[in-house]
Amino acid sequence: MKLFTLLFFAFLGATGTTAQVNIAVETKDNALVLQTSNDSSLYITYFGARLKNTSEYREIGGQYRMTDANNSPTNNAYTPAGTWNLLEPALEIEQADGNHSVELKYVNHKVTKVNDNVILSSILLKDAVYPVSVLLNYKVYFNENIIEQWSVIKNEHAKKSIKLIKYASANLYFTSKKYFLKQYHGSWAEEMKPEEHELTSGIKTLDSKLGTRANLFQPPTFSLSFNKPANEDEGEVLLGTLAWTGNFKIDFEKDAYDHVRLIAGINPYASQYTLLSNSSFETPPFIYTYSRKGIGYASRNLHRWARNYKIPAGNGDRQILLNNWEATYFDFDEKKLVNLFKGAKELGVDLFLLDDGWFANKYPRNDDHAGLGDWQENKKKLPNGIPFLVNAAEKQGIKFGIWVEPEMINPKSELYEKHRDWVIRQPNRKEYYFRNQLVLDLTNPQVQKFVYNVLDSLMIKNPKLAFIKWDCNAVIYNAYSDYLQKNNIPQTHLYVEYVKAFYNILEKFRSKYPDVHMMLCSGGGGRVDYGAMKYFTEYWPSDNTDPYERIFIQWENSVFFPSIASCNHVTDWSKSPIKFRTDVAMMGKPGFDIVVDKLSEKDKAFAIDAVKNFKSVKDIIWHGDMYRLVNPWESNSAAVMYVDSAQRNAVVFNYLTNRRYNVNTSADPVKFKGLDPSKKYLVKEINIYPGDNPGINAAFSGDFLMNVGINTGISSSRPSVVLKISQPYTDK
Ligand code: GLA
Repeated sequence: MKLFTLLFFAFLGATGTTAQVNIAVETKDNALVLQTSNDSSLYITYFGARLKNTSEYREIGGQYRMTDANNSPTNNAYTPAGTWNLLEPALEIEQADGNHSVELKYVNHKVTKVNDNVILSSILLKDAVYPVSVLLNYKVYFNENIIEQWSVIKNEHAKKSIKLIKYASANLYFTSKKYFLKQYHGSWAEEMKPEEHELTSGIKTLDSKLGTRANLFQPPTFSLSFNKPANEDEGEVLLGTLAWTGNFKIDFEKDAYDHVRLIAGINPYASQYTLLSNSSFETPPFIYTYSRKGIGYASRNLHRWARNYKIPAGNGDRQILLNNWEATYFDFDEKKLVNLFKGAKELGVDLFLLDDGWFANKYPRNDDHAGLGDWQENKKKLPNGIPFLVNAAEKQGIKFGIWVEPEMINPKSELYEKHRDWVIRQPNRKEYYFRNQLVLDLTNPQVQKFVYNVLDSLMIKNPKLAFIKWDCNAVIYNAYSDYLQKNNIPQTHLYVEYVKAFYNILEKFRSKYPDVHMMLCSGGGGRVDYGAMKYFTEYWPSDNTDPYERIFIQWENSVFFPSIASCNHVTDWSKSPIKFRTDVAMMGKPGFDIVVDKLSEKDKAFAIDAVKNFKSVKDIIWHGDMYRLVNPWESNSAAVMYVDSAQRNAVVFNYLTNRRYNVNTSADPVKFKGLDPSKKYLVKEINIYPGDNPGINAAFSGDFLMNVGINTGISSSRPSVVLKISQPYTDK
């Protein structure tokens, strides 16, 4: 790739002070402006709409009060601890002599044009007293309005180590009057429950200390509206998320002047990091997009960015699958599975995914108490091994995928008997289990090798394996690593090194097997973040597949993640009609986790037709622009829409979300978005249950569809409707 780099320095003026340096980090719509002061400190002076005349950025500095009562600045670009700053720091260091101060001054900055759309601004700051430097990086994806921000902290001492106490990825500063934070909380089967509230003075923190499955109770993902809560189409809003698959901490500090300082990064909890002489620490990126046109626009930018730059094959295809988890749980054998393949074939899906329970012999994996760690096929269930199944699936014309949970171990396993030292556990305390299991110590290179080999040998033995579901069902309790201890590495490196090792394994795996589709799962959505999504084609939002619940989980995830990555399965978790379950699963990557043979004739006919329908619209849903039309939190229904880039084809899903008796929403037409008002569109209902009325099939202008809308007539007896919208190519 051709890189184009410009290097800038501050120069000394006649007065002995350095000339002011202005750095504008600009996206298509927005600008983040950084400015140096007389003493070369670096401040954030602006975050907002991009100005037409860039020379005016330098006038911004004095417009807002950005100091405390003692005139100490509150808007530092990367707030250091231990000197003048008494606010929440971005960086805290214990220097080699035990001193806890750090002070950063601007040295130079570089602007590198990575390509026509991606520009990296790197600003070098140094401490004048201690040999420490920080490189602040702002990677701009111009058209998508996305900034990835991270820092590289360097210990420039030739011989001595320093300790990083706090080492944030990003420090931002906002100057509105009011701030509304939408954060998410939840637990197993109830992920992504939003809560929106106004920030009050002081610090509001979003964090996790769970280690693995770090997002079980809270993801590192939020939206922050300025002045008033934004909605889909209006309002100023920042969507932010930390790309880190481990402990995180995001602080929002509202000061006396109603300004907010945002500091996001790895959670410093139990994570002081010793930085050896002449070495650097690179923080994970904090990813954000700012919109002045509401959440919908911000989401579409984030989706486009994720598809273009983050998620493997983000603009490619996905495989619709049949999974056996809920169909069989642990109770299966070769014959049962091969029978399920026939169902997969009948449905018309692309792949069969074998879930948990296929491995371990001494302590067979017949329930969730045993076997994790012993990744050999269970001889009783699968006498002919996985290769036999891959071939049998191929004979049915479908591909084969497999579930693994390679970071985990059951105390009831041969691996545990052999390698207790590979387990994260306190050597002198009682073991503490989460789903009867413990976490392997990935900081140990031997364990990394083991985990890598679990996957590599599956691929070597089964070169046609087309899909891997990587699960992670436990948090880290009793955080202690035998390996770190033996190698004189501080225990406080465990949480950080764990995540780095997790990425190393995936990096290695991905470089050898770039095309295998992989699902990121963590007992549901306990680990959905853009750090991991660099390696995974898709994620599992929740084990909860009840359509009434799932609509809300998918709705909230869709704010941050594109539909192509969201695995939504039709299961028997709820008693809702198959049409409703399938229609809900189709607002992403649908799959099935049912026994096809047990379906009634009508249900089966419906499902077969739905798979065909989905394949005819999947490009629109996976690669188009998403519009959230009707918010389920504000009404009895939800509606979402996907429109292709040519504005020719679209799909609308309308779902009932209220389970109360006899709900009827027919008073409200759904107004579409993203169409061309001057064009005529054919609106046709698809996914019609056998024997039901044919539904709508009529032509309307884009103008009509967006201003009047269509009344889909959903009700308790007809809780979902799917509409295919197409512009006849002959239409002018
Ligand atoms: C987790 C996953 C499920 C399933 C089970 C298997 O709970 O979220 O989808 O794979 O593990 O044990």
